[in-house]
Amino acid sequence: MSSIYVDEATGSDTTGSGSQESPYQTLGFALYTHPAASFLIRKDASVEYAEPTQSSLKKAKKTADGIEKKKKKQEELEAREAQASQAEKEKREKVLEESKKIVLVEDESLPKANKSKILGLGQYRTQRVRVFGWVHRLRQQKDIIFIVLRDGTGYLQAVLSGRVAQTYSALTLTLESSVELVGTLQQVPEGKTAPGGHELIVDYWSVVGPAPGGDDAFTNRLNEKSDPSIQADLRHLVLRGENASSILRLRAYMLTAFRKALTDHNLIEVTPPCLVQTQVEGGATLFKLDYYGQPAFLTQSSQLYLETCLPSLGDVFCVQESFRAENSHTRRHLSEYTHLEAELAFINFDDLMAHIEDVICNTVDTLLADPVAAALVKQLNPNFQPPARPFRRMNYVDAIAWLNEHNIQHPAEDAEGNPIKVDEKGLPTTDGSGTVLMVDHKVGDDIAEAAERQMTDAIGTPIFLYGFPAELKAFYMKKVPGQDGTGHVFTESCDLLMPNVGEIVGGSMRIADQEELLAAYRREGIDPEPYYWFTDQRKYGTCEHGGYGLGVERFLAWLANRYTVRECSLYPRWPGRATP
Ligand code: 4AD
Repeated sequence: MSSIYVDEATGSDTTGSGSQESPYQTLGFALYTHPAASFLIRKDASVEYAEPTQSSLKKAKKTADGIEKKKKKQEELEAREAQASQAEKEKREKVLEESKKIVLVEDESLPKANKSKILGLGQYRTQRVRVFGWVHRLRQQKDIIFIVLRDGTGYLQAVLSGRVAQTYSALTLTLESSVELVGTLQQVPEGKTAPGGHELIVDYWSVVGPAPGGDDAFTNRLNEKSDPSIQADLRHLVLRGENASSILRLRAYMLTAFRKALTDHNLIEVTPPCLVQTQVEGGATLFKLDYYGQPAFLTQSSQLYLETCLPSLGDVFCVQESFRAENSHTRRHLSEYTHLEAELAFINFDDLMAHIEDVICNTVDTLLADPVAAALVKQLNPNFQPPARPFRRMNYVDAIAWLNEHNIQHPAEDAEGNPIKVDEKGLPTTDGSGTVLMVDHKVGDDIAEAAERQMTDAIGTPIFLYGFPAELKAFYMKKVPGQDGTGHVFTESCDLLMPNVGEIVGGSMRIADQEELLAAYRREGIDPEPYYWFTDQRKYGTCEHGGYGLGVERFLAWLANRYTVRECSLYPRWPGRATP
């Protein structure tokens, strides 16, 4: 038999085999694995392999015995554990088997249970109630099960103990199962808290629809650490979470509050079409589609339709989806968003801005006066303060000066709109290397999102930015009178900017004069033919009028202090995402 090799420097007891090519590291381990072998050992490669001395063999024997002892102990432990877990398993199976024998029946002799949503439970304190919902949280202790039930209207703590906690359903209950709970509603004991201040002491219950456990369990499909793309795919499950549902709940209150503010101002609600054959905000962001063989679009804005309602219904508003095919992945752009738009007749530009400010402040006041809505605002945005009135108004030209005074620059662009890059000497590069050249703003520049945000956040209050140059704005906007021949032509237009979000409202006065509108179509290269109905407004009794559009998700992002508008939409759409 050949010798077993030990190299104390480069050998290994874990990966070695004892051959000359792959020696062990310690003599003790070599002796443990090959008790009857002969050994060759060296300190390191600088000396020859030699037989071990008697004393080192004696020492190694002790080590080998130690290893043997440790291994035996480990094996015993594992056997004991296996036995225990087997016993545990058998015990659990027995308990489960036994539990199947416990059949709950509702006790007909008890007072009748009132069926109620969680929100309405307050009136039933100390009485029996029947509640349906989903298991939002679950804590199983020895003989007692705590459930936090969710039904969309709120959360309810429920306690199952005794027989009701011993059924097969109780022992196998999982998160997100739907259940029926019946019991007595009790005020929570002094010093304890629970949603609504009460808890349900369950005397009868049943599972309506179980949710899977194991690999397919809810928390295995989705949790806080899930990747954003998984969260987007599982938006339908994300909606069950506390944050998402609170945001959407606040959104509902917010829309009701907006409707109240608008109807209080005598505007009436209309529902314009989403399938249209005219553009409003420029061809670049149109979703085009084939409409029975004709070209059509998804609407970018219902403004043109609202304008046609003025002579029929007076001042109007709508809450309608708008669509923008912009390839923007920013935190404030959606491909489909809810657009709250209004149009008012016989007003001037000042009236328009005063109206927008009124509607926004009245909406906030309504929300804060409602205890449920106010609690949602507080929960989502603890530092929320209603905006101070009047809103600051800032002329576009003054904003350009403000940006330059505060050293907020923008990337210089070449004729094609690509950013210009420069080398260390400041000379333009042609191969794409270098850094982007930043330059001051000048009148006529679009104030880009980044600069706008820096300014809004620095000022920290709502700002009406008004009077944009005509070349930056849509064809329908009214020009500021008396500025012809001054170089720039400005419009009676305004954006309302909010800290943390930026633009939430875009509005303007509209061209009232037919000839002026026809000239505007020509200037923008728009064929007036499909707009005949819009032009007719100017032909049959025109009036000075104006309106605005408010991005519902952006307003909500401001109100609830959300990082992105994606959190503020039920099923947000952005480039590449239309699922679920
Ligand atoms: O400034 P915009 O494009 O104005 C209009 O569409 C006008 N026709 C509205 C009108 O006067 N009736 O859009 C108005 C608002 C913006 O201020 C912004 O809040 C929101 O709509 N918005 C968007 N929200 C989310 N994603 C997008 N891609 C948005 N584009 C505009």
